[in-house]
Amino acid sequence: MNEPSAPTPASLRAKFAAALGDGQPSEWLTAFATVPRELFVPRFHQQDGHGRWHEVSDGDPGYLETVYSDTALTTQLDEHGLPTSSSSEPRLMLAMLDALGATPGDRLYEMGLGTGYNAALLSSVLGDDSVVSVDVDPELVRLARHRLAAAGYYPFVCAGDGAEGRAERAPYDRIIATAGLRHIPPALLSQAHEGTVVVAPIGYGVVRAVVSGGGEAAGRFLPVPAFFMRRRGPARNPDFSGVERAVAEATTVPVSDVLDRLRFPLSLALPGYSTCSWRDETGQVTGVGLWAEDGSTATAHAKGTVRQIGPERLWDTVERLVSVFPKGVPAREDFGLTITPDGQRYWYRDPKGPCWPAPSG
Ligand SMILES: C[S@@+](CC[C@H](N)C(=O)[O-])C[C@H]1O[C@@H](n2cnc3c(N)ncnc32)[C@H](O)[C@@H]1O
Repeated sequence: MNEPSAPTPASLRAKFAAALGDGQPSEWLTAFATVPRELFVPRFHQQDGHGRWHEVSDGDPGYLETVYSDTALTTQLDEHGLPTSSSSEPRLMLAMLDALGATPGDRLYEMGLGTGYNAALLSSVLGDDSVVSVDVDPELVRLARHRLAAAGYYPFVCAGDGAEGRAERAPYDRIIATAGLRHIPPALLSQAHEGTVVVAPIGYGVVRAVVSGGGEAAGRFLPVPAFFMRRRGPARNPDFSGVERAVAEATTVPVSDVLDRLRFPLSLALPGYSTCSWRDETGQVTGVGLWAEDGSTATAHAKGTVRQIGPERLWDTVERLVSVFPKGVPAREDFGLTITPDGQRYWYRDPKGPCWPAPSG
């Protein structure tokens, strides 16, 4: 009897695209069924249960099946083993592409070329000449350009800080960021026009805003959870030894709120914050740590104590959030963004409701 033949990339890709759609129509599904993802991620890194990274390459067992699954694939690590580039989860990519509402011929700007896979999907629907994509890492741009050409796509790609846009190719009808932002970069807004749709990851969510001219834009967050690697920049480490010397104060906030229930609103109220947790042998959370890029650090213990140091009292922000959201998980799509020439702010339910200013830098 003959061995059953191994699935081909094309057959896996067709199944993958059909599964992504969940029976909902989207013109982007044809792009997912057409663009060979394996060309853009010939190798990626996978973390085992101990946090160690292992490289998986084309030809390894399970490689193609993982490429054609709804998995974010880490493609680059820094010297500390922290991911610096990836091909995002395809279902999230689809949600963002759908939210863009782009049609063939629309001029599109992408911040965060990465592997080039999204740029290939965009090029396949909008046309090569319509797509501009920028990555901060010149080596990634070199690789992506090569892989895009191998797949038959020729968008304009270049290295640089994507937050600055590419003014000489503006104005753009659609702008997408695939690197985590804390606000919509003003340079990108100045390269848009009235009606331009901007889709960008902010904190643990993705916002869709429409530009209305005069430096103004407004929109809401998509219901999908998301976390994108941040736009690269300087950051300070947490000062856990310093915070241990601070006076303990009382808190009634359950520490797990920071990790789950309030994770998304906290990412708007404390842009760019990081968090970690400590657990006992049963897996129960016993404490959480929070830190910001200016070095402000807070640790909270499940026993109801908190310590905080630095320019910003991070736990005070957590307490204020609990007063706005005393219970339940607030829905992402109830949050919005308003941009005026005076600044950008996030709000809950109503632009005049509870709001949090977006950092300007
Ligand atoms: C999640 S990956 C992008 C995924 C990509 N769209 C794809 O399809 O593979 C995020 C990328 O943003 C890039 N990035 C980070 N900061 C950036 C910046 N300031 N300007 C442009 N790209 C940036 C990173 O180098 C990384 O490649």
